[in-house]
Amino acid sequence: MTEALTRAAWLRGEIERHNHAYYVQDAPQTSDAQYDLLMRELQALEASYPELITPDSPTQRVGAAPLTAFGSVTHAVPMLSLGNAFEAEDVHAFDKRVGDTLRAAGKLSGAEQVDYFCELKLDGLAINLRYERGALVQAATRGDGQTGEDVTSNIRTIKSIPLRLTGEPHEIPEVLEVRGEVFMNLADFDLLNEAQRTRGEKIFVNPRNAAAGSLRQLDPRITAQRPLRFFAYGWGDVGGLQLVKHSDMLDWMARLGLPVNVTQHVVAQGAADLLRYYEQVGARRASLPYDIDGVVYKVNDLEAQRVLGFVARAPRFAVAHKFPAQEAFTTLLDIEVQVGRTGAITPVARLAPVFVGGVTVTNATLHNEDEIRRKDVRVGDTVVVRRAGDVIPEVVGPVLEKRPAFAPQFVMVTACPVCGSAIERLEDEAIARCTGGLFCAAQRKQSLIHAAGRKALDIEGLGEKLVEQLVDRERIHSLADIFTLQAAELAGFERMGQKSADNLIAAIQQAKQPPLGRLIFALGIRHVGETTARDLALHFGSIENVMAASVDDLLGVNDVGPVVAGSIARFFAETHNQEIVHALREQGVEPQAEVAARSAGLSGKTFVLTGTLPVWSREEASSLIVAAGGKVTGSVSRKTSFVVAGTDAGSKLEKARELGVTVLDEDGLRALLADVEFT
Ligand code: IVH
Repeated sequence: MTEALTRAAWLRGEIERHNHAYYVQDAPQTSDAQYDLLMRELQALEASYPELITPDSPTQRVGAAPLTAFGSVTHAVPMLSLGNAFEAEDVHAFDKRVGDTLRAAGKLSGAEQVDYFCELKLDGLAINLRYERGALVQAATRGDGQTGEDVTSNIRTIKSIPLRLTGEPHEIPEVLEVRGEVFMNLADFDLLNEAQRTRGEKIFVNPRNAAAGSLRQLDPRITAQRPLRFFAYGWGDVGGLQLVKHSDMLDWMARLGLPVNVTQHVVAQGAADLLRYYEQVGARRASLPYDIDGVVYKVNDLEAQRVLGFVARAPRFAVAHKFPAQEAFTTLLDIEVQVGRTGAITPVARLAPVFVGGVTVTNATLHNEDEIRRKDVRVGDTVVVRRAGDVIPEVVGPVLEKRPAFAPQFVMVTACPVCGSAIERLEDEAIARCTGGLFCAAQRKQSLIHAAGRKALDIEGLGEKLVEQLVDRERIHSLADIFTLQAAELAGFERMGQKSADNLIAAIQQAKQPPLGRLIFALGIRHVGETTARDLALHFGSIENVMAASVDDLLGVNDVGPVVAGSIARFFAETHNQEIVHALREQGVEPQAEVAARSAGLSGKTFVLTGTLPVWSREEASSLIVAAGGKVTGSVSRKTSFVVAGTDAGSKLEKARELGVTVLDEDGLRALLADVEFT
């Protein structure tokens, strides 16, 4: 029996130590399996000797029977709220008020700055934990500040909250009321919603809502399954205390085994430091594992706090400096579909304008049909919109309680809203596509916008608005038509002055000699990104070679697999795509061979090929040079390193001789290439 008693006490100590390491310090010291073994041994022991069970045994976290209602608790010390600061000047004013009061009371000398303690303002629920002689005896919500609800059984299921305080016995007070925030991590929240969805249960709109809902469960067994966490930031009733600073209090609580958010705290002097903390936290807000809605500044000295006292229901010694809200409610006015470059149909939420995450949001992508089903958002719904950091705005979900009586489910269009072609969704794909190809004006516009983009032909001044007008007026149909534009005709377009027209024409002229990789990328072949386009350019050396390449040839290119090779081959098998390339050539587009970045071989060397070589075709020679890091150009200048001449070489050979450029024959080139190590 004493042996069982000792063993049970040891097991409890071990389990709580592991809980603390896992939930408070984020540094697990054992495996889940090992932890389960300890727990099972303790359960077995307590089953054989029920008299050994103590209320603070970890087996008793989920012991309590369901309630019919929560009891009410009158707080021994009222639970206050905080005044808010939104702007830097509010913070300066707060600091000045505090400084002036403390100086008037003789607590601060003339030039001295006020010491503050800075914390995160977690977006959860305020809870009061009452410990008597080290044991958790009661937990209550804030309620109206005077009276809250008794949520003890639910709070006991939160593993980061110690049922018994640890640390030196002389440090454990008769009574300690700990105040802090119950919250849920974002990742845990996502998993919870995922599970709720699979079970067909309520989806929570945000982690705060999920934490609140979990804490308000009458059955603690449900709360036990919810990933709730807790951080202590203050205290209520506390007996026999000698500490001097707020920071000492939190250190002490941490020593008692309570979860304190130590890594995020700083001590600061004066308003400038406070604002710096605000900026720094703001910068990492989006990468924190939980939602915060601001930071809190507290006068660190406890005697100074007493001098400052309270106004109405908030302390004068602390203030919450709020961040712009990351979530807001608004109305979903409509779901429109957009047609992308490859025909992909993207449903877009049109929203009543709402200020969220520091900007006004009116649109948000809904990704695809399945996503709309999954979220069950409907036109007319009140929805939660979230914009965290610089992330694009997102519709989180509907507020079902506010759904209008007749809110129809979203139905995907069956015909393209732009060209009327059929919409097709392949079985294993999430995306529906317009089958119109370049017949579809929307796809044409998007392809042209893509082609003119910075990573493609980089035609400055040819933006979305102008492309739209040019396509709508049927002035351009394909990429090649861009090169037929004249300054005079552009004047008639919206926001197009003489100067911008001239600039655009100059940009178009410049785009006539694009690096080959960029031209390939500009064509907008499915699955061909910038890197693949460049690899193709390096490998084949000319657009004609890429066009003529078989799937097998294509598979020989760095990182090109069957899907990409198939897509390229199919693209060039289309007559209209071949025509575009020919038309580009006719308009004087001369792609420039790429220089391999890594191969030092012929890098920096420029070649001109002329005449017919005995063995290699022009293209073969050219791709070998490019693969070796060299560059092939069309005309001879002083900068040309070598002219490779075959039979019937004409003016280029003459020019080379004139300028003193080295002339090689095929064997000469072969010898040069033989020295290069291909990567
Ligand atoms: S101190 C007497 N510190 O914000 C001051 N509150 O707007 C009491 N909160 O009800 C609050 N993080 O739920 C304090 N580090 C923090 C906080 C914090 C979140 C919440 C708390 C409180 C509300 C006041």
